[in-house]
Amino acid sequence: MTEATIESVLQENRSFPPPAEFSQQAHIKSLEEYEQLYDRAKADPEAFWAELAEQELDWFQKWDRVLDWQPPFAQWFVNGKLNISYNCLDRHLTTWRRNKAALIWEGEPGDSCTYTYAQLHREVCQFANVLKQLGVQKGDVVGIYMPMIPEAAVAMLACARIGAPHTVVFGGFSAEALRDRLNDGKAKLVITADGGWRKDTIVPLKEQVDKALAEKAVPTVAHVLVVERTKQGVHMEAGRDHWWHDLRQGVSADCPAEPMDSEDMLFILYTSGSTGKPKGVVHTTGGYNLYTHMTTKWVFDLRDTDVYWCTADVGWITGHSYIVYGPLSNGATSLMYEGAPRPSNPGCFWDVIEKYGVNIFYTAPTAIRAFIKAGEHLPKARDLSSLRLLGTVGEPINPEAWMWYHRVIGGGRCPIVDTWWQTETGGHMLTPLPGAIPTKPGSATRPFPGILADVVDLEGNSVGTNEGGYLAIRYPWPGMMRTVYGDDDRFRRTYWEHIPPKDGQYFYFAGDGARKDADGYYWVMGRVDDVINVAGHRLGTMEIESALVSHPAVAEAAVVGKPDDLKGNEIVAFITLDGNVTPSEALKAELRQHVGNEIGAIARPGEIRFSDALPKTRSGKIMRRLLRSLAAGQEVSGDTSTLEDRSVLDKLREGV
Ligand code: WTA
Repeated sequence: MTEATIESVLQENRSFPPPAEFSQQAHIKSLEEYEQLYDRAKADPEAFWAELAEQELDWFQKWDRVLDWQPPFAQWFVNGKLNISYNCLDRHLTTWRRNKAALIWEGEPGDSCTYTYAQLHREVCQFANVLKQLGVQKGDVVGIYMPMIPEAAVAMLACARIGAPHTVVFGGFSAEALRDRLNDGKAKLVITADGGWRKDTIVPLKEQVDKALAEKAVPTVAHVLVVERTKQGVHMEAGRDHWWHDLRQGVSADCPAEPMDSEDMLFILYTSGSTGKPKGVVHTTGGYNLYTHMTTKWVFDLRDTDVYWCTADVGWITGHSYIVYGPLSNGATSLMYEGAPRPSNPGCFWDVIEKYGVNIFYTAPTAIRAFIKAGEHLPKARDLSSLRLLGTVGEPINPEAWMWYHRVIGGGRCPIVDTWWQTETGGHMLTPLPGAIPTKPGSATRPFPGILADVVDLEGNSVGTNEGGYLAIRYPWPGMMRTVYGDDDRFRRTYWEHIPPKDGQYFYFAGDGARKDADGYYWVMGRVDDVINVAGHRLGTMEIESALVSHPAVAEAAVVGKPDDLKGNEIVAFITLDGNVTPSEALKAELRQHVGNEIGAIARPGEIRFSDALPKTRSGKIMRRLLRSLAAGQEVSGDTSTLEDRSVLDKLREGV
């Protein structure tokens, strides 16, 4: 066995057709309709996207050419002019949506507010005028370091309105992480708040900004605009720091949207990258607007009466694409929640669903595993009957977690869209269209129309049915990243050279392993960096973990390889047990046996370690790289700044 492929070992045969009532009212109503759409897009992607761009977006000036592809650099809708803030706001004001709720916001302490499209437009225009007064010009990069309050969305839209690319830094990142990102982007101004609520405490954002900017550590930043949220009292540096509520006084709410070139930069968003310097992923205007618009519309099957809730933070791509730009471009009602499930109210998400009659709920597998652990009595105590569609993103979802989500949260009636995509792809790539594509637990199903996905070996040959390989995309799409900010060469090396071009065709390398089944369904097997080589078999993490999670005692599992003289690697499993299960040697033996039964002896963990928690990034992804060092008995090295809870590592080191 070579590096060429990855072995797939897990079987999952359950399938859930879309409920008939759902399909009847859906945008895309049947598998045939999806397949027709897919085939048409594949035959002529440019015509497909051009038609949608014309129908779905407002342009100040039409493009000359749909696609200019100089691999690996793409330009979409060349010379087209538009503004995404215009598409998200202004164009709805001349329709009945003018007074429709655009944003519904619920604060963690229980305060709340709603902005209609007309109100949101007014806020954004004023905010944009204040930015201009502070000297921000078209092309200037603006840093946003905000809690989950409406002003975070207002700030993004205001930047987009005047053509100032934003770079949102997740509010949980440290001052150093903020400083590095602001410096890399050469930000001119930072938008922040005094603080934000998260898990019953105040996150002191302004204090972190002060640290990041101390001693002119970010020389390009001239001003800081501060939104008042938590009112705990903060230092305000004279001449540099300004309160939003002061500066907005008397400012005009008239601010026409700047005509932007389709390829003008809309934002930079840094991905942590497991090692080394964070990458500034660059997205531009026209292609991103179209791609997030279409995926929001078809994947969430949006209806005008829906209350749609995505639980991500605006600091991640999911928040950019599916709280702000995609939903608002569609004229949807997007719900924004400030905090996270917390000790004082672990069932708060279910309260929010009941309170607002949420119809579409989009969250991450890490959250679902936490819900499972917290117990089903919490959601059962609330009325969740308004829900009609569920979604997940961020990691492979284990089939048993999928089944729980379907049964307990979805009441068995809601389709689940398991959406595979990345910061780099801008929007959903592999995903069910919920009225058309039957779902299988653990599979992100089929590619979105216009996405030419494949599973290939390292020479770019498609692998056979049910053979594992590298997930790759064979043709540009409008939402793709354009480059790594300031580093075209890194862009080329990271994404386009792992699989060398073949017969003039380039392959976008996603870094994930996958297999395709006989129905053309994709099964993402985890990051290829995490693949474990056991006695010549290359195994993905997702399948072994899913086998472990299918045991009733297991809440969460992460497997890694530990160097072994004989086998190359031995599998070490880190396991979080269900709340009322006691760890024991007998249980370890039982779990090893269970994996043997589910998959086969080859995948049986050599070692099992129980733990209260697993190390995760702040967006909830398990950091297997750290577990690998622990399993090998080495010091944890490399970047740990993205770790959610540092104490988890110490506990794991002490071992169980
Ligand atoms: C993983 C999040 C399996 C994957 C939008 C990808 C998934 C990385 C899924 C991107 C899914 C995301 N099934 N794996 N449905 N969604 N991933 O940039 O490894 O934070 O490459 O973007 O998350 O993470 P990012």
